[in-house]
Amino acid sequence: MTADVFHQRFTVPFDYPVHFTRAALDPANGLLAGVVGRLGEKRVHRVAAFLDDGVARAWPELPSRLQAYAARHAGVLRLEGPPEIVPGGEQSKNSLVAAERVMERLAALHLCRQSCVLAIGGGSALDVVGLAASLAHRGLRVVRMPTTTLSQADSGVGVKTSVDAYGMKNFAGTFAPPFGVISDFDFLRTLEWPYWIGGVAEAFKVAVIRDAAFFALLREGAALLRARNDDFIEGVVRRAALLHLEHIRTAGDPFEFGAARPLDFGHWAAHKLETMSGYSIGHGQAVAIGMALDSHQAFRRGLLPEQDLDAILAALRAAGLPVWSPLLRRRGADGEFEVLAGIEDFREHLGGPLTVTLPETIGRAREVHELNLDTVREGIAFLERHA
Ligand SMILES: NC(=O)c1ccc[n+]([C@@H]2O[C@H](COP(=O)([O-])OP(=O)(O)OC[C@H]3O[C@@H](n4cnc5c(N)ncnc54)[C@H](O)[C@@H]3O)[C@@H](O)[C@H]2O)c1
Ligand SMILES: [Zn+2]
Repeated sequence: MTADVFHQRFTVPFDYPVHFTRAALDPANGLLAGVVGRLGEKRVHRVAAFLDDGVARAWPELPSRLQAYAARHAGVLRLEGPPEIVPGGEQSKNSLVAAERVMERLAALHLCRQSCVLAIGGGSALDVVGLAASLAHRGLRVVRMPTTTLSQADSGVGVKTSVDAYGMKNFAGTFAPPFGVISDFDFLRTLEWPYWIGGVAEAFKVAVIRDAAFFALLREGAALLRARNDDFIEGVVRRAALLHLEHIRTAGDPFEFGAARPLDFGHWAAHKLETMSGYSIGHGQAVAIGMALDSHQAFRRGLLPEQDLDAILAALRAAGLPVWSPLLRRRGADGEFEVLAGIEDFREHLGGPLTVTLPETIGRAREVHELNLDTVREGIAFLERHA
């Protein structure tokens, strides 16, 4: 008799370089050419560039710089026309429209799976371009050049892409590791303050759940953060990015098949607040508020010592991040706080039983599988008083 089941099993290794640099598009800087040609194939690589419109406004000379760069490195890469401008900011990823535009462009250029998409922009633009590029021919090579603190410290070095759809944050997305990442710290100079400090919220997030010494650095560096100190933010971005990469590499679940997602500490409330605000609250600001709420939950459950809760709230505020929004007390038709619906949205997005990461001391976290709703309601009142 022949067997009627064969259990197919294989593993695929992934690897990609993450570079930190300045003046990435100076023709003398060989990094980009090196990343595009990193497999040593003896051919000229076709590159389609996409540029966040906010970056294009702040760096108007960038398209011509890119041309000059390609001219110098013509033996390695060929630019397929000027960079296509894509809308930046969360608003651009609140439907599938922008991603479809990118796919139309990729189709018009007849790029193949071994061609390269160069995506330059903040986390939102990288998500849009990354999603489109991961769908076109089931995935083109994507070289990301993140231009915000948040995307350099967090989203731009990770393995996910997505857009918001059907009223849900990050509903349509893919797991798609990049071909390479080049973070150029020069870009951070032109960021508006809320985005500049927004990325620091993600740094606090990894610090609180993983790295007490990093938390101390952030707490003690509040004045440097408020002064937008170049060297300090460079160190913060680098350290947060490495912690993020380490998690993806070592935690055993890079594509998030399980229900646990420690890097989403504070994110159930954050995602709900972003949606409720019509995306007028930045992701980083929403994450800071979400971390404050869940740190209060952790304290009330006897996990987190009170002095750690105080330290987290004080450090976030000292850096210029919010721990409160009036949206937290907005109630729906049923009289309940609207933000509470974020718990079920979050569970659905991750799949399986609810799994929320709570700090048990600064630098260490644990997972819990229910949130006490009365405690969340109490946390809302607590944060309002605190603010
Ligand atoms: N894929 C993931 O794993 C992941 C993880 C975390 C966050 N995200 C997403 O990232 C997004 C937030 O990204 P963000 O904080 O980078 O903001 P953003 O991409 O929304 O950009 C913010 C604004 O700054 C502009 N901008 C970008 N770079 C600039 C520069 N160097 N100079 C001047 N202006 C510039 C943009 O045009 C935009 O108007 C959210 O949508 C969030 O969901 C994704
Ligand atoms: Zn985040």
